[in-house]
Amino acid sequence: MKIGIVGLGFVGLSLTSVLSSKGYDVLGIELDEKKCKKIINGTTPFFEPGLEKILKIGLKKKLKIKNNFSLIKNCDLIFVTVGTPQNVNGEIDLSIIKNAISTIGTNLQESGNNPIIFIKSTVVPGTIENVILPILEKKLNKKAGKDFGLISNPEFLQESNAVKNTKFPHVIILGGHQTKFMIKAKKFFEKLHPNIPITITNYQTAEMIKYANNSFLATKISFINQLSNICQKIPGANIDDIAKAMGLDPRIGKLFLNAGPGYGGSCLPKDMKALINFANSSGIKPTLLNAVEEINNKQLEQIISIIKEKLGDLSLKRITILGTSFKPNTDDIRDSIAVELIKKLLKKKAKITIHDPKAINNTKNIFKNKINYGKSIRDSLSKSQCVIIMTQWKQYEKLNNNDFNYMTKKLVIDCRRMLIKKELNVEYYAIGLGKEK
Ligand code: UGA
Repeated sequence: MKIGIVGLGFVGLSLTSVLSSKGYDVLGIELDEKKCKKIINGTTPFFEPGLEKILKIGLKKKLKIKNNFSLIKNCDLIFVTVGTPQNVNGEIDLSIIKNAISTIGTNLQESGNNPIIFIKSTVVPGTIENVILPILEKKLNKKAGKDFGLISNPEFLQESNAVKNTKFPHVIILGGHQTKFMIKAKKFFEKLHPNIPITITNYQTAEMIKYANNSFLATKISFINQLSNICQKIPGANIDDIAKAMGLDPRIGKLFLNAGPGYGGSCLPKDMKALINFANSSGIKPTLLNAVEEINNKQLEQIISIIKEKLGDLSLKRITILGTSFKPNTDDIRDSIAVELIKKLLKKKAKITIHDPKAINNTKNIFKNKINYGKSIRDSLSKSQCVIIMTQWKQYEKLNNNDFNYMTKKLVIDCRRMLIKKELNVEYYAIGLGKEK
């Protein structure tokens, strides 16, 4: 059995590496020549813990990486994992996936193969039935469900946990018609992931499950962020104790209750916008989702108001940002709240120095020489008048009085409450912590 994986981003490359390292015969397709070359040489084009190691194992087995679709015709299972980026109006842009589907169709035309095509890319309900299926049926002059399989198979992996989540997903969703292809798909996943629940449903429901998950996660974050803003007005209140107690209620669960500067990344903000847009266009006013998004958009104001109160006019004030990646253990800065913060502070003419253990190069691509890049944490704090901890990198837990000694004003804003238990000779503010009177 040959498996083709189209698009080698976080989802595609993780699946490619995990399957090939297990010995499956995998063909990975990435059209970007630079990325493709790196992957062929066993280097991942982005930082993801543990991924390079299993990619290399896969490459020593049967894994083939190509930057064209010609070999896709030999594949029995084809996973489409290309991006569906955001359009300016909040809709998702389907051009990349339409192109990929159309090219897969063209390449399958001549082959006698009847593959199953799995759509892992995040698409709004109705896209598979109304957009993807017609392209394939027309190109192939064949019927989905009868001559080839087409199944929605949304992905739930988290960046920085991609390998683990790919090896041990919490659920497998298979959306589509109940055909021989669905039976085959179920067998494949039962073998790959014994004991993991498989939910079989139709296309639209499977597509919606993905948005349901991500919008609920965003809701949890905005909920705890709103509570944390309230806590800041209650002397001595501590959002982490509240989240911990709430999390012990099995009906609530402890995950995604970590208050901070707001959710970022390439998924939650985009998927929230797409779902809001989809609801509006379906005639449903998404009141709750709008509020979740609004809370997220305003969360940075919490930080900016503390800085302004303490530093006054920000022009030429030296501010250090610790962490620009959208979360720890990744170099991804897409839709990172820290990047937003830097943009806002630059508008106020502040002088910014940043530190990040992995995301410096990506940050340089955006800000070039408009900001400074610290060589070490201490270097980035030197002569600074304010430091803001944005990303929960482990390294920042170790910060101590010696590190802050070199600051000209010792103002620390800890968006992740990493230093809360330390005795520090600094003026300390934390999101979600009510200042004692
Ligand atoms: C998210 C989902 O968690 C995955 O299940 C999903 O597959 C993925 O999107 C996707 O759609 O591809 P990811 O974007 O990797 O995964 O990041 P998350 O771990 O969800 O974090 C998103 C943001 O929320 C980060 O900025 C993080 O700092 C923030 N966050 C998360 C909080 O502020 N508090 C929390 O308690 C959890």
